[in-house]
Amino acid sequence: MPESDHFHVVALDGGAASGKSSTSRELAARRNFLHIDTGAHYRAVTAQALAAALKATDGPALNALLENLTFETEITDRSGLLKLNGKVPEDATLRTEAVNGAVSKFAAIPAVRDAVKRYQQSQVEVAQRNGFNGIVMDGRDIGSVILPDANLKVFLFADPETREKRRMAQGIKDTISQRDKMDEKRKTAPLSASPDAVKIDNSDLSLAEVVDKIGALLDASQ
Ligand code: CDP
Repeated sequence: MPESDHFHVVALDGGAASGKSSTSRELAARRNFLHIDTGAHYRAVTAQALAAALKATDGPALNALLENLTFETEITDRSGLLKLNGKVPEDATLRTEAVNGAVSKFAAIPAVRDAVKRYQQSQVEVAQRNGFNGIVMDGRDIGSVILPDANLKVFLFADPETREKRRMAQGIKDTISQRDKMDEKRKTAPLSASPDAVKIDNSDLSLAEVVDKIGALLDASQ
């Protein structure tokens, strides 16, 4: 990256099926940013715990599992994918009904959040090292906890019917509203819009329109 170019850090938060991932991917493609989907990190840890027959309440055993996890990144098409213990989990493994049902319980545990926090923060440097013009990280607590100094924070939302329809169109059985409730109520890093985040309701906007808006905000923030 040339010294004169400003490296952009975009925090994109929002509830389940609010459009974060598609929006981030399209923004990354337009601007040559690295996209990091932090939901996939919690899903990957949850899938590992479930494979070891652990529940979110199994404190000591879960801590032992967390201590032995290794976190690396594999970059594919501007997505920084988490390589957990040397393997990028298949998308299908991350989106099973069992993972959808358990992920918010595991994500509420401070030890789980601590385990992924440093890894997530280190992805800014990964993006810089790999010549990207910026990073867009999507999740629930990116603007509030992970990248509080991001130069643009966006909070995406959409009405519940639109979000249910999106998930049904993907053919995925999901518990969107239950997950949102749990994510909003948890003590550690709850889902909430940072006061300095720009809120965008994308219920009636196309993907291109949302990304246009974010692009304009980015240009104005330089
Ligand atoms: O794709 P969807 O928006 O439904 O969810 P996701 O982004 O894959 O996140 C799955 C779950 O991980 C969420 O429901 C949260 O419980 C948790 N999560 C979190 O706690 N913090 C984040 N930064 C990202 C996800």
